[in-house]
Formats: sequence, C-alpha cells, structure tokens
Amino acid sequence: MESLDALLKKAPTLVKGTSTLEELSEAEAELLGRRSVVAEFQRGIGRLPPEERPAVGKAIQEARRTLGKLIETQRGRLETESERLMLASDRVDVSLAALEYQEGYTHLITSTIEEVCDIFIGLGYRVVGGPEAESGTYNFDALNTPPTHPSRLESDTLYLDWGDPADEILLRTHTSPMQARYMEEHDPPVYVVVPGKVYRADTPDATHSPVFHQIEGLAVDEDLTFSDLRGTLAYFAREFFGSERRIRMLPNFFPFTEPSAEMHASCFSCEGGGQCRVCGGVGWIELLGCGMVDPNVFEWVGYDPSKVSGFAFGMGVERIAQVRHGVSPLRHFFDNDLRVLSQFR
Ligand code: DAH
Repeated sequence: MESLDALLKKAPTLVKGTSTLEELSEAEAELLGRRSVVAEFQRGIGRLPPEERPAVGKAIQEARRTLGKLIETQRGRLETESERLMLASDRVDVSLAALEYQEGYTHLITSTIEEVCDIFIGLGYRVVGGPEAESGTYNFDALNTPPTHPSRLESDTLYLDWGDPADEILLRTHTSPMQARYMEEHDPPVYVVVPGKVYRADTPDATHSPVFHQIEGLAVDEDLTFSDLRGTLAYFAREFFGSERRIRMLPNFFPFTEPSAEMHASCFSCEGGGQCRVCGGVGWIELLGCGMVDPNVFEWVGYDPSKVSGFAFGMGVERIAQVRHGVSPLRHFFDNDLRVLSQFR
C-alpha cells in the first residue's frame, strides 16, 4: 500500500511535466501499463488473505481512476496546444503582396477568325478545315483554273518536292480548294466557312507576307442569287465593322466564279479624300473576292448546274483585322511583339 500512495504522490508532477503527446504516452505506460506498480498490485491480490482483498481491490480501482483522470486532462491540454501550434504555422498572411503572373490571351488573328466564324455560324454555316499541303488538282483544276494560268507559276506558288509528280503538291494559295473538297463529299444544300493558312511566293513587306490567313465561304442551294450573296456580305460587314459601315461591289474576275466581284467597305477613318492612312484617300477598302459559283466547278464535283446555284467568297483575315483596328504594317501580326498584341486582348 505504501508504494501505491507514493505513486499517487509523484504522478501529478510526472504527468504535468510532459510536453508532447509521445511523452504523455510514456508516462501513462509507466503509471498504468503492464509493468507498472498498479499492475503489480493487481496481480498480487490473489495472494492476499480473502478478507483483505476487497479493500485492496477498491484502493487499486480508485488509484486507476485518479491516474486516468490526470492523464486525460493532460492529454486534452497537449492536444489543444499542438492544434494551436499547427494553426499558427499554417496562418496565411493576407497582407503579403500576391505573386504576379501574366494571363494568356488569344492572338488577334485567332480572335478575328473566331469572331467571323461566329457570325456565319449565326447564319447557319458550318466551320470546316482543310489541308495546307494541297494538290494542283484541288488548288487549281477543280476551280476552273487552266494549266496556263499565271498564278500556277513558281513565281507565285510554292511547290513541294513531295508526293506524286503527276499531281503536283503545293502549299495552298487560297482556302478555295475546300469548296471542291467539301462539295465532293456532301450533297447540297451546303453552307460552310473555311478558315486557315495560305501561302504565296511573296517577299515580306508592309502589305505582303508569304503566309497569311483566309476565310472561305460557300453557299449552295436551289435558287441562290447575287442578291443573297450581297445581303449575306452586307450583314457580315455590319456585324464585324459596325452598323454605319456601307459596302459596294465592283466587277472583278476569278476563274471559279461567274460573275465575280470584289467587295469594298466604306473607310471608317476618313470621309474620303485627303491623306487617309487606311484607305489612301479613296474612301473605300477592298475586303474580299466573291461571286456566283461557276457551272464548271459544279460539274467538276458532280453537281448538276441546272439544279443548284450558289455563291462563294474569300477574305483575308489580316486585312479585315487591319481595317478594323488600323494595324499596319502587316508584320505586326507575325512578330509576336507583346507591346502590339496586348492592345487587342
Ligand atoms: N481565292 C481568292 C483569292 O485568294 C479569293 C476568292 C475570290 C474566293 C472569289 C472566293 C471567290 O470564294 O468566290 O484571291
């Protein structure tokens, strides 16, 4: 009994002296574990005379309860403390300046393509892509362009030393070959726009680049007329350039449309005349080529020209972006100079 009392006396100092949960577990083992004084007493009960057993048993129970309470109180204290320490080390200093990073944004060419396609999607058109390495067959023959046409010369077109020499492979000079490719694969009605890169054997200068972007449009149905073409393009011009924009159509020639025209939009930065940087004082800016699909093209793809009619158009993406934003020269689109590009987020 002596040493049980002694144990109860030294226990508070031992328990309260622990400063971590591990230390407390060690103290608990020492006080209540299998090799503790308490366990020793418990084991000795059987050897006592029967009349002493209840009193000793009770004393041991009480000692266990007292020690247990002591340990639990200390455990609660240590847990609160370790939680406090964890919270303190996890604290976010909201007064710290945030790390700066630059968010990306779409290039002006990409956003222009997206915007134009959205306008035509609104009119029921589909957006399709096509190959940049194209055959002479689709780039020229299918589009009613004879072998002698000057645009087929190496001074204009970039030829690739690749594929079947009988069908020359070249970098497409326009997005128009997709007219033939699409019609070959689909029956009318057809309403598609084709954005993409095109290539010409041009030396880069303020208005030329060997690679640039076009968006082709093609509509084929039962009785489409030039008025439908004009109305569609006027709608596009108002949506893209603003409601005050006027358009005009001038006759032109393209082998794959008959009649063919070029569309101009009224200059937004002058009233015509003077030294306008955008239109050179003419008051109008050429935006695109267009026309009614030539019957020869319909025949080539297997459509019956007496049953269908349609119109097509092709616009330069850099050009319409330049006209809308007054960006010049052309190389600003390809230089990746953020001082220029970040103005068009
Ligand atoms: N493909 C022509 C070019 O690159 C532009 C063009 C003109 C496209 C008339 C057309 C069109 O679809 O009908 O200059």
